[in-house]
Amino acid sequence: MHVPVLLNEMLNLLVTNPAGIYIDGTLGRGGHATEILKMLSPEGRLIGLDRDIEAIRQTEETLKEFGEQAIQIHGNFADMKTLCKTVGVSEVDGILLDLGVSSPQLDVAERGFSFGKDGPLDMRMDQSQGRSAADWVNEEEEEALANVIYQLGEERDSRRIARAIVQAREGRRIERTLDLATIVGRAKGGRRGPAHPATKTFQALRMAVNAELESLEAGLEAGLSMLREGGRMAVITFHSLEDRAVKQCFKRHVVKRVSLQQGGEELNFDEPSVQQVNRKPLRAARQELANNPRARSAKLRVVERKMAA
Ligand SMILES: C[S@@+](CC[C@H](N)C(=O)[O-])C[C@H]1O[C@@H](n2cnc3c(N)ncnc32)[C@H](O)[C@@H]1O
Repeated sequence: MHVPVLLNEMLNLLVTNPAGIYIDGTLGRGGHATEILKMLSPEGRLIGLDRDIEAIRQTEETLKEFGEQAIQIHGNFADMKTLCKTVGVSEVDGILLDLGVSSPQLDVAERGFSFGKDGPLDMRMDQSQGRSAADWVNEEEEEALANVIYQLGEERDSRRIARAIVQAREGRRIERTLDLATIVGRAKGGRRGPAHPATKTFQALRMAVNAELESLEAGLEAGLSMLREGGRMAVITFHSLEDRAVKQCFKRHVVKRVSLQQGGEELNFDEPSVQQVNRKPLRAARQELANNPRARSAKLRVVERKMAA
């Protein structure tokens, strides 16, 4: 079960043309996608992407009721332009990215995302390619590991943790989630707050294994270039690194309206021209927070492709 976050806020801001074409770049269990499809008229379509083949398999079942209005494609949203071309779509009315992992991915121990469940240390959203988290922790140099844990996990004890990982792997390979969680927990001197001591290290590894920030940058650029005039892109983030990347990308594309004499910047007409729909990111309301703790850190940013002057 995956409870979609900021659902009503997203629907109100994203679906402006019921007969339009929409992309859900992070289909997951299809929670957001189902509600978007319900708002569409018979001409409207939704293309759902996910790099996890299990998400595609599951939503082929759950979205069956929408017939040909729902199209699922296995792939990375970074490649949305090429993926959508395979079904004859190059321009769309709206795009949703709801970042991170889904509850079912976290819940299945075999996927290796959870420090609370013993499983193989995998963490790949797309298990058909790339290096697993076990490959990362067993093969990377100590300094590279420390840098990843520091930069992507914002973990202050990154050096100590990287040292402990390198020491532990001297006699054996680290292959299991609980093994890694114990090594990290010990390096941090045990549990001190409400969060598990391995939370940030696991987040960092997951982001590195799946090259999440690189995909996000590429997906934002691809998405903005596919929007029709008046089309919108909505992004839900769950931590500061993702939100910063979205904020900065949107900012780069918002053409400054201040004249040069007033100290503004030169307009760059090469860029797709977009405007912010909400200047400040939207957060979950109190009622949603009470029902879904995952919504606590969620932020929704939306931009709209401007009409030509
Ligand atoms: C938070 S869940 C989405 C949940 C979905 N909105 C719902 O309501 O069920 C994120 C999903 O996006 C997928 N994902 C993450 N990064 C991706 C990427 N770069 N390309 C495609 N799918 C991605 C994950 O595999 C996961 O299934």
